[in-house]
Amino acid sequence: MPPFFYALCRYDLGLTMNRTQAWWVLAFSAFLFASAAAAGPALPQLHSSHGAVQLYVDGRPYLILGGELDNSSASSAGFMQPVWPKLAAMHLNTVLTPVYWELIEPQEGKFDFRSVDVLITNARKHNVRLVLLWFGSWKNSMSSYVPAWVKRDPQRFPRAQTSDGKGLEILSALSESNLRTDIRAFTALMKHLRDIDGTKHTVIMIQPENEVGMIPEARDHSAAANAAFAAPVPAQLTDYLTQHKDSLAPSVREAWQGHGFKTGASWEETFGDGIATDELFNAWSEGLYTGKVAAAGKAVYPLPMYVNAALIRPGKQPGQYPSGGPLPHLFDIWRAAAPAVDMLSPDLYFPNFAEWASRYVRPDNPYFIPETGRVNAAEMSANAYWAFAKLNAIGFSPYSPEYLSADEQKVLAESYDVLRQMTPLILAAQGSEKIAAIRPPVAFDGTQDLTAQTLTFGNYLFDVHFKLPPPVSTGAREEVPMPGAHGAMIIQTGADEFVVAGTGMIVMFRTSGIADSIAGIESVWEGHYVKGAWVPDRCLNGDENNQGRQLNVPAGKFSIFRVRLYHYH
Ligand code: DGJ
Repeated sequence: MPPFFYALCRYDLGLTMNRTQAWWVLAFSAFLFASAAAAGPALPQLHSSHGAVQLYVDGRPYLILGGELDNSSASSAGFMQPVWPKLAAMHLNTVLTPVYWELIEPQEGKFDFRSVDVLITNARKHNVRLVLLWFGSWKNSMSSYVPAWVKRDPQRFPRAQTSDGKGLEILSALSESNLRTDIRAFTALMKHLRDIDGTKHTVIMIQPENEVGMIPEARDHSAAANAAFAAPVPAQLTDYLTQHKDSLAPSVREAWQGHGFKTGASWEETFGDGIATDELFNAWSEGLYTGKVAAAGKAVYPLPMYVNAALIRPGKQPGQYPSGGPLPHLFDIWRAAAPAVDMLSPDLYFPNFAEWASRYVRPDNPYFIPETGRVNAAEMSANAYWAFAKLNAIGFSPYSPEYLSADEQKVLAESYDVLRQMTPLILAAQGSEKIAAIRPPVAFDGTQDLTAQTLTFGNYLFDVHFKLPPPVSTGAREEVPMPGAHGAMIIQTGADEFVVAGTGMIVMFRTSGIADSIAGIESVWEGHYVKGAWVPDRCLNGDENNQGRQLNVPAGKFSIFRVRLYHYH
């Protein structure tokens, strides 16, 4: 018995006990301490703080500066070997990577997790976290990642069918045997993660299935699906719709209202006859299946889970796009069908990024962008700044960063480096009025609207311009668009102090609500953050801020500025 402990119990804590009792207390305390240490920090979880839902990892808020590996990269440890350092050099802190059912369960019931383990080992080595994408029953509608023994046995693992009875390479969501078999593999994966990663939390989130939805028709027409379609709409769905009647997506509400808010009737009697009802049915069937997979996985190891959606090109009908995926007009169906899924997330590949992104903003939908691309790295980065500031996004993830050109990787590295430095400020400001985003709207055809924008921070107005005055020497009159991408976040750090991070704009300042007053620039410093502490680099004045008239956020690079303003009458 350490004398100090015995003395502590007897005197300092005022306890009277003999040495044997004190041994028991010591042993019990040691047990408690050891169990707490073994349990480690809290599991990754979504947590609502100061008006924003954020992802907490090891008990602290965490911002995913992600990248999603190309589909086949993670199937080869050799292929990935030179990729890992590149990902780390781009300042990714999180890698989204598929894990493949066909590799995990090559023989029925015999699990081989080597392809998962090597990802976790390398992620730890390169100091990044992982989000695992379960390429299980469905990947982009199809069932190409199911093991061979599933592919080869359509009797046991039935496929969806077209309306003229043709089989599709898509597992039917109406088959219990498909569901049970997927769940068995997915829960084996989750159990394995719990066993090998339950205290380290290298894996922080899971995506069950991938871009679910039916193609080329709006729903499965197999016999089982037709029977379910003719049966009453499940009460689980109509109860949800009844409870959320006032906030339903307009198309769902109108269809249901048009049929007298019916319950206990078939799909067509409840919502009408046509392709839109076929889509609702498919959303329900595949949402229910995916939700059951997610719930079974969470019962074993409760990591946050999200599903991703393939979005709709203009003019396309259900079946021409993956019908029934987690799309904005189907949110209610997915929420009712899959309560274990925490987030419905858009894969944002269209130029009108902000327009589509905004359609996923709902009070019950924490915000995550799992995939984005098909624009250059600067535009993509400008979208990231906007999403973190405007949507309180928990993460952002360009698709296949390993295939970006060296120059594009450099751009992403620079912009992510700035975001990495800004992370503590972003996390503290999300959900409040202290953070704002700037990004010119872009249409589907790629046209940008470079009209100036005005932001308000208390008594200050910020006029943001994306065009430069015409060069005097040319005699031209038209303003000239600044080159490159335009995007930034502004975070208010004091009554008169702001941090601006981004690219490609000019900001001028005014006051609002204070009659006849003028806002002036006290100082502008370009700088950087080291472990959250500001390091000023250059004091910008003279030509660099147009003799005190404006803040220049240069095009072609991502930078951080600390701006102090003042106002006077
Ligand atoms: C969306 C899918 O979810 C990804 O797995 C990948 O196939 C990309 N499309 C490719 O653009």
